[in-house]
Amino acid sequence: MDNLATSIYRVILDNSLVGIVLLQKRHIILTNKKMAELFGYDALEEMLGNTTRILYRSEADFEESGRIIYSDLAKGKETKLEFIGKRKDGSEFWCLLTGKSVNPGEASGADSVWICQDITKEKEVDMMKTDFISTVSHELRTPLTSILGFANIISKKFKDTIYPALNTEDKKTKKTADQIESNLNIIISEGRRLTFLINDVLDIAKMEAGKIEWKDERFTAQYAIEHAVSATSYLFQAKGLGIITDIEDGLSEIHADKDRFIQVVINLLSNAVKFTDKGDITVRAKSDKDFVLISVSDNGIGISKENLNKVFEKFKQVGDTLTDKPEGTGLGLPICRQIVEHYGGKIWAESMEGKGSTFYFTAPRYLGKTGTARIKDFIEQLKNSAPPALIYSGVSKNILIVDDDGSIRRLLRQELEYAGYITDEAAEGLEALNKIKHKKYDLIILDVMMPGLNGFDVARILKNSPDTMDIPIIILSVVEDKETGFKIGVERYLIKGAEYPQLLNEVNGLLGSETQN
Ligand SMILES: Nc1ncnc2c1ncn2[C@@H]1O[C@H](COP(=O)(O)OP(=O)(O)OP(=O)(O)O)[C@@H](O)[C@H]1O
Ligand SMILES: [Mg+2]
Repeated sequence: MDNLATSIYRVILDNSLVGIVLLQKRHIILTNKKMAELFGYDALEEMLGNTTRILYRSEADFEESGRIIYSDLAKGKETKLEFIGKRKDGSEFWCLLTGKSVNPGEASGADSVWICQDITKEKEVDMMKTDFISTVSHELRTPLTSILGFANIISKKFKDTIYPALNTEDKKTKKTADQIESNLNIIISEGRRLTFLINDVLDIAKMEAGKIEWKDERFTAQYAIEHAVSATSYLFQAKGLGIITDIEDGLSEIHADKDRFIQVVINLLSNAVKFTDKGDITVRAKSDKDFVLISVSDNGIGISKENLNKVFEKFKQVGDTLTDKPEGTGLGLPICRQIVEHYGGKIWAESMEGKGSTFYFTAPRYLGKTGTARIKDFIEQLKNSAPPALIYSGVSKNILIVDDDGSIRRLLRQELEYAGYITDEAAEGLEALNKIKHKKYDLIILDVMMPGLNGFDVARILKNSPDTMDIPIIILSVVEDKETGFKIGVERYLIKGAEYPQLLNEVNGLLGSETQN
């Protein structure tokens, strides 16, 4: 019988399509052909007896993986690890290990069995996908900005100028006018929805590609929860649901990017509302070792056990999505997960179908001392804060709009001229510098990505010349690199979004306060 079992194991090992390895104190004591093939060894004997160090690029990687793996193994949990494997000839590939301890509980000395797969292709596809998504989303945002911006202008002009001049006594005219107004509102609200979607897609693509600027801030759970609750209050009102908050006394501050954590709470609250018909939603915060544990509970439709982990995957919406497709795209929770995991935390859900769900996540507690962080936060806040919006007529103030996209220039012109400013445009950096040389402008709105001289270079030249250094510059771009902008000395840095009330506020603020000096 023993012989038979051994032969069966041998056949399985020899023909397996995945690498298999048995480890004792991180030494390879049994392995198979596929494993040798993956790591470029000619014979199993070359691997046997070695430590798994031979599979890693560096000592640091080897140690890091040990740290990750062994605490899980000791608990008897199945463990997964992605790492860059090193072949015998030194070449590298992406490797996925899945394994389990044979004798859990025996901490560091545990024996373990592992399956090993080459996932280089999947990784490459994933990276291409991320790149593709972020490029496409950027490209979508620019035309959408024009569409939504013009729709807003048309709607405003229609209400302010055309509608009052119409003969609304005439039923047909009135009906048509009402229709136009309602159609415009649909364009605007659908445009906004599309903007949210594109922003979500872009957000997650950037997080995956590690291209997010994470701010270093301190804030209380109370602050984040209050902001999230007020941001979602219209949802609660619309469905007649109540909200209960329960925050532990004396809870330490959280140390992370404030807006990102508010975003997590907002996503969880909006899900809770979306999938709940009556009752209250409860948000709790309490301390949990080095973390603050926050939870959002509802008594809504719940999630089945098998779907509980799937909901954190991109574009996953569970339930019968064909018959009752929920609103949204299935990106809320994956975004939450990216944010929470970025700070070394965890996010998970507990649920009973028909009874309700609770989503939990951990946020890092502030552990350091007070002082420098405060000052840094303060400077950051000063840089980011908009001056109070002043109502300013704008008469006789000249603004130069620099953007290579013609429709954005036209849109900005209309918005600014509507507010009473005089505008001029330039389609590229050199043209802008030329115009500034020959005419005095009171403010410049500047795009970053332009052919030839880019916006940062234009700003650098202007801010370094005594004649032009006092002209306020507002950068308006899809490029999210505020740091560079502020280093050069631009006054404001706005990201191209879909609407411009904020831009107008900034323009009014910068020009208004100037006249008061
Ligand atoms: N509180 C909840 N109760 C029941 N099901 C939930 C709850 N929260 C999430 N889900 C399920 O998880 C899915 C994924 O949620 P997620 O927030 O990622 O996407 P979404 O809400 O559908 O869309 P989006 O957030 O992108 O607008 C939901 O579609 C729903 O099926
Ligand atoms: Mg959601």
